[in-house]
Amino acid sequence: MRVLKRLQWLDLSPDSPILTTPEFQRFLQACFAPLRNSDGSWKRSHATRHGELDNRLAAILGKRLDRPLVFMDVGMANGISTLETIRCLERAGLGVQTIATDRNLVAYVVRLHKNLDVLVEPNGHILMIEWNGWRLSPACGLWDYLTGRGLVKWGLTMWAKRRLARLSLPLEPRSGGTAEDPGAVEGPFLMVTPELKGRSDVVVRIEDILEPLAPDLTGVADMVRIVNVLRPDRFPPAQLRQIAVNLRQRCRDGGLLVVGRNRMQRGVRPRWAVSIFQAEPGGNLQLVERLGTGSEVEAYFLPPGGVASSRLPPAQSMLLASDARRKLLTISRSGE
Ligand SMILES: C[S@@+](CC[C@H](N)C(=O)[O-])C[C@H]1O[C@@H](n2cnc3c(N)ncnc32)[C@H](O)[C@@H]1O
Repeated sequence: MRVLKRLQWLDLSPDSPILTTPEFQRFLQACFAPLRNSDGSWKRSHATRHGELDNRLAAILGKRLDRPLVFMDVGMANGISTLETIRCLERAGLGVQTIATDRNLVAYVVRLHKNLDVLVEPNGHILMIEWNGWRLSPACGLWDYLTGRGLVKWGLTMWAKRRLARLSLPLEPRSGGTAEDPGAVEGPFLMVTPELKGRSDVVVRIEDILEPLAPDLTGVADMVRIVNVLRPDRFPPAQLRQIAVNLRQRCRDGGLLVVGRNRMQRGVRPRWAVSIFQAEPGGNLQLVERLGTGSEVEAYFLPPGGVASSRLPPAQSMLLASDARRKLLTISRSGE
């Protein structure tokens, strides 16, 4: 299947019958294979990735709100895990309004040869090369080097880069010519699953967490989630502190902030390392629960001399202290 020839499928409405076909599922899997963004992050998310965390959040939130919960998913990638979370919360009886954001959502398809298309960010960074239905990401892993595949990737990427250099950047749809012409540019495409972005209760926004927070996103969320995004090897301490302030600003007083990663355990089973905070009036965050060992960036979210992380023992699914639990049950009441 030539996936990049069908990228318009990402704009299908969520009730389109095409979405239920096996062909569409194959298309989604292929176009949402892990791709490396120009900032070094991975464009990656998949169903069932968040199962354990979703269930825990649904249990914490319960059916306590008498209005839809405002859920903000930051660093959503293709939105597949966002959709899974929404469905889990809905199964738990919660109404959900979602704001899903990410820095890297837009891509173009450039036809470089009648048999070769590339998926590129507006800045010209190549996400995927598709040659006669054979797809590869320019990012190389150990296996690529061992098998010699890395050399093929390198050669094709160099060739594609030279061709792309003839186009002016940032990319824009080119008028004149047809999508079949070499050099034709199609897009921009919002690289998000249509089942999510077509929903009337979901807003998808391009947004960089390192930029100042937009006023309309300030203080609106009952739950902000940022998972599989923040890593101490990718964000230096000053940025992590800035991000912590930015994320707190999104929460209503009493709202939850969920920060963490699910990491592979000995390369096999993903294991959650998550910290769940509650937003306190006055702008601080209080740690109320950990999954696994807690987030490796937890300390950046706590005020100096605030709740010491050592006061909460690592636990697979620690129960809340009773007063923290009481506070959680009043989540977001103060913002109503
Ligand atoms: C591995 S994906 C995580 C996807 C999803 N949260 C999940 O767990 O399935 C990491 C995402 O973080 C996004 N990201 C990285 N830096 C960002 C930033 N400064 N602002 C917003 N999003 C960012 C990347 O674009 C990427 O989509």
